[in-house]
Amino acid sequence: MKTFTLLPLAALVAISALAPSYAVIYAASNSAIGTPGGDRFQQQVGLDYALDVLEKGSSSFWYAFAQRNETDRKNVTEITVTITQSMIGISDNVNGDIRVNSKYIGNFSGDVKEEFTGIVYYELARALQWDGQGQAPAGLLTGVADFFRLKAGYAPKQWVRFGEGMRWDEGFDVTARFLEYCDAEYEGVVVFLNSWMKFGYSANVFGECPFMLRVCLNLYVYVVCTEDIRL
Ligand SMILES: *[C@@H]1O[C@H](CO)[C@@H](O)[C@H](O)[C@H]1NC(C)=O
Ligand SMILES: *[C@@H]1O[C@H](CO)[C@@H](O)[C@H](O)[C@H]1NC(C)=O
Ligand SMILES: *[C@@H]1O[C@H](CO)[C@@H](O)[C@H](O)[C@H]1NC(C)=O
Repeated sequence: MKTFTLLPLAALVAISALAPSYAVIYAASNSAIGTPGGDRFQQQVGLDYALDVLEKGSSSFWYAFAQRNETDRKNVTEITVTITQSMIGISDNVNGDIRVNSKYIGNFSGDVKEEFTGIVYYELARALQWDGQGQAPAGLLTGVADFFRLKAGYAPKQWVRFGEGMRWDEGFDVTARFLEYCDAEYEGVVVFLNSWMKFGYSANVFGECPFMLRVCLNLYVYVVCTEDIRL
C-alpha cells in the first residue's frame, strides 16, 4: 500500500496554540494493487491525481457553497480516499473517509479518470454538506451532492434528463436536475438551501424556506407536468 499525505498549509507556517484548527489533512491510498481495478487505477488515475481531486474538490465545494470563511464550514479534519476491493457498491464515505470500489474501476467502460473524479466530487459533497442536524432526507442530500458534481462538469452521460423521475426528492441525479432547474431560475438557491440546513430541517422545507423555493417547485411541477412531483 502506497500512501501520499499532504500536510495542510497551516502546518508549514508558525503554529499558534490559539488559532482554531480548521485545516484539513488529505490522503489517498490504493489497497487493491495487484487486482485488475487497482492496477488500472494506478495506470489511468494515480494517487497524485486522487490527492489533487480531494484538494481541488474541497476548495470548489467551499467556493461553490459560499463558505470562504473557514468558520462557515463543517469541521472536517481529515479527508481520505481509498481504492479497495472489499466493499459493496461503487463508493461510500464515513466522516470523510471515502472508499471507491476497485472492481467498479476495473470494469468501467469509458474515461475512468473522469468517472473517478465525479465519484469523488459527489462523496466530498456528502462529507462537507450540511445535513439539517441529521434531519434532512437522504434524497435531498444525495441530490445536493450530485448537483455539485453536475455543476463541476462531471455528470455522467447516463444520468436522467430534466423532468425525468417521479419526485423532486427522489435523490441523486433526479433531485440534482430539479436543483439545477431551481438554481437556473433563482441563482444561489441551492447555496442558500445548504446553509439553511446547517441549523436543522423541516419537512415543510418549501414553506419555511424563502418564497422563491416554493415558486420554483411550483414552476417545476408546471413545466414538467408531473403531478407525482408535487409535495
Ligand atoms: C474540529 O474538530 C477537531 C476534532 O474533532 C477538533 O480538535 C478541533 O478543535 C475542531 N475545530 C474547531 C474549530 O472547532
Ligand atoms: C470569519 O468569521 C469569524 C466569525 O464570524 C470572524 O470573526 C472572522 O473575522 C471572519 N474571517 C474573515 C477572514 O472574514
Ligand atoms: C467485473 O467483471 C468481472 C469479470 O467480467 C466480474 O466477475 C465482476 O463481477 C465484475 N465486477 C463488477 C463490480 O461489476
